[in-house]
Amino acid sequence: MKNIRTAAVIGSGVMGSGIAAHLANAGVTCLLLDLVPAALTSAEEAAGLTLADPAVRSRLARQAIAGLAKAKPAPLYSDAFTERIVPGNVEDDWHKLSGADWIIEAIVESLPVKRELLARIEQVRAPDAVVSSNTSGVSITAMAEGRSAEFAAAFLGTHFFNPPRYMKLLEIIPGPQTSPELVRDMAAFAAERLGKGVVVARDTPNFIANRIGTFGLLATLREMEASGCSIEEIDAVTGPALGRPKSATFRTLDLVGLDTMVRVADNVYSQTKDPAERAVFAPSPLLARLVERGWLGEKSGQGFYRKTQTRDGTVIEALDSATLTYAPARKVTSPSLEAARQAKGAAARLRALLADRDRYAELAWRLLKPLLLYAAATLEEIADSIVEVDRAMRWGFNWELGPFELWDAIGLRRTVERMESEGDTVPQWVKSWLDGGRESLYERRDGALYAAVEGRQQRLEEDPELISLAALKEQGRVIRSNGGASLIDLGDDVACLEFHSPNNAIGADILAMVQASVDEVRRSYRGLVLANEGRHFCVGANLMLLLMEAQDGEWEEVDAIIRLFQTATTALKGLEKPVVAAPHGMTLGGGVEMCLPADQLVCSAETYLGLVEAGVGLIPAGGGCKELALRASLRLPEPDSDLQPLINAAFETIGMAKVSTSAFDAARLGLLQPHDAVVLRHERRFGAAKQAVLRLEQAAGLATVGAGLPAAAGRWPDAAQTGPRTRAAQPGDAADADSAGGTGGTPRGEATGAGSGTKAASASSTSLPQGALVRVVGAPGKAVLQLGANTLLHGGYISAHDHKIAGKLAHVLAGGDAPAGTLVSEQYLLDLEREAFLSLCGEPLTQQRMLHMLTKGKPLRN
Ligand code: NAI
Repeated sequence: MKNIRTAAVIGSGVMGSGIAAHLANAGVTCLLLDLVPAALTSAEEAAGLTLADPAVRSRLARQAIAGLAKAKPAPLYSDAFTERIVPGNVEDDWHKLSGADWIIEAIVESLPVKRELLARIEQVRAPDAVVSSNTSGVSITAMAEGRSAEFAAAFLGTHFFNPPRYMKLLEIIPGPQTSPELVRDMAAFAAERLGKGVVVARDTPNFIANRIGTFGLLATLREMEASGCSIEEIDAVTGPALGRPKSATFRTLDLVGLDTMVRVADNVYSQTKDPAERAVFAPSPLLARLVERGWLGEKSGQGFYRKTQTRDGTVIEALDSATLTYAPARKVTSPSLEAARQAKGAAARLRALLADRDRYAELAWRLLKPLLLYAAATLEEIADSIVEVDRAMRWGFNWELGPFELWDAIGLRRTVERMESEGDTVPQWVKSWLDGGRESLYERRDGALYAAVEGRQQRLEEDPELISLAALKEQGRVIRSNGGASLIDLGDDVACLEFHSPNNAIGADILAMVQASVDEVRRSYRGLVLANEGRHFCVGANLMLLLMEAQDGEWEEVDAIIRLFQTATTALKGLEKPVVAAPHGMTLGGGVEMCLPADQLVCSAETYLGLVEAGVGLIPAGGGCKELALRASLRLPEPDSDLQPLINAAFETIGMAKVSTSAFDAARLGLLQPHDAVVLRHERRFGAAKQAVLRLEQAAGLATVGAGLPAAAGRWPDAAQTGPRTRAAQPGDAADADSAGGTGGTPRGEATGAGSGTKAASASSTSLPQGALVRVVGAPGKAVLQLGANTLLHGGYISAHDHKIAGKLAHVLAGGDAPAGTLVSEQYLLDLEREAFLSLCGEPLTQQRMLHMLTKGKPLRN
């Protein structure tokens, strides 16, 4: 892998600033350069600045960096990462390029301007620096013309998709002289460090994704005009029913920008000689008319759709392409569309749609057929194999199935037969494939995936570093399983607990499997990973059951559910072997509570963590409040340091149901700790978590300096019962040692109030540790929290019910009415959580919130 520590991005526009942000996300220090402005802004003039002022000369890059913190969706994992981006201009800071390992040009899309820039870069770059262009369509070969052989060997296309943080695709385009080793090394760097899905593309007009994607959009536009279908009808067919995003065709065009679309189409039109291809990419009169009116899509407020505000709220209107007038968008449905909606998975949806012969099933086929034929016909020109094309469409256009996966989903032979019966010419290579006795372009055999590559089946190289739970399951590596979760052998005696219930919501089956997994790992494995391959790690507890019990007033049942949850998280925490949680995507409520007891988190960078229970009128009761209170207590440098600010922060995190915008951002909310890890390559989280388990196990075997010291107060109060726990030294450990002198190893808590929940322990098949003692702010601290909530209530920022929830939360986080500084047991706090949760379940407004979430999928403010 290329070791890139510093990079320079030239051009601080939409793409340049986004690329610089993502490099900063990956820990690369980045210089961002743009032109020197020709005139002062009125603000600069008013401030008495001149054109010679450095702040003015680097204004474009500076403004671009300042804009990153405000941009939505956030280009940076954490606002703090802006410090990794250094602004400058292409005159005063040019010499700094000599310090860059990688120089990326992201300037205006013009061959002569790009060529001129590259000639200047050649003069200054370090001998081993990589130089790349982010062009979306200019030829890499043409750009390198006139440059030295050394330069051309170090030059390639690196085509990021917008927005660079979120779009997985990176097309790497080698020129004829680009070093093959460089292509390999940059591909590895982009995958491992930037988390990109890399596809190597040939240097042809618009490369892979934009070539196929724009063909699909333009062919659809033409079909709409020819058939007289409405925009809404086309979008009803070309969205999820075809395995594409909800933005379907026309909303996608609006997002891309209709002027950009015209330019991208023209890039192919002007370079191809094939009459059929020219007919599709030729200037569209409809697009031209819209661009002429300035109706460019999202960026100009209207395009194929527009939003208007009425007394009843926002109305989405769709364009009538004949009259260029707007009318409220109509909902389109039919038996075929309904069948597709009900089918599970993209391939099944597509088959359900095409199985019918109604108007929309026919339309779907008329839209798909040219795309499938075009992909097959251009394959050899644009890519090495079908795999690159399918990946490019999945990662660059968010399709669920690429064009060749679509051939397979419909059925290769059936597709060819239907095309031929309709008089179409199917590319010879597809027919030869069928004649060779194969029924699909992809085939999964013996746990490996094979694809059609140059007329033969080629096994797709699977990265040995990557672990696929689906593949392990196919290989029979399931240790035990129920309807909601499975325990899978990851190899090296590490097990993985995988959730697979609908939305990965936590119900009784998952909780039972947590307990069973703990027992199994305790007996036979070296450690446990919590990870899954769902769209999201976990959206929280299954509210349906809880709401039903609450509505029926079955309080004993509700109490039992909470106890089961607490027993599960306590069991995870009590396991003497390393536990590593590897969340990704939405990780909410109970999902976070499953992660908090782990020894370490290895998160995908795109993880959105939040204890969001307040949104449904509750507070975390699976140990979430307790864990944040414990973390606050462990972070105290001295026993008599001020705990209140740390508890206030936890109160805000939970009370306001805050959700992190990335894994890094979760540290700000106190949900990630300094020893937790983040992987940018999403697929690596399983392997990284497994390695973390093995490392933790090894670290546990090492004697640390602290091991010879007397037991610290507040740790392992009942070592005889629990035995030593294997875990690496953690930041909180130091705080324990510090507190040793102050309180002298008191066993268990001097908790006031509730008993220490032996029920939870006895519900488990093994003895559970009572864990650490937690120093609490007690009654005076609770008053402080309540005062904050009162202020928000009186200011009209929160509702009376929010205030009630905040009161319960304050009670739990403060450790009830204990005196300030009391040490309480974890179980004591769990009991407070449970009592608060139970009482909130009985509130009609909480039940309304739960019902709203279940039916509408979003929180209700009442
Ligand atoms: P943009 O217009 O937002 O930004 C271009 C920036 O380059 C401007 O800030 C401009 O001042 C600066 N610039 C122009 N000439 C310069 C020069 N000679 N030296 C230094 N800076 C100069 O353009 P955008 O959209 O960021 O596109 C940049 C490149 O990325 C283009 O090649 C484009 O085709 C490509 N691209 C664009 C995508 C998009 O969605 N906008 C997606 C993928 C690639």
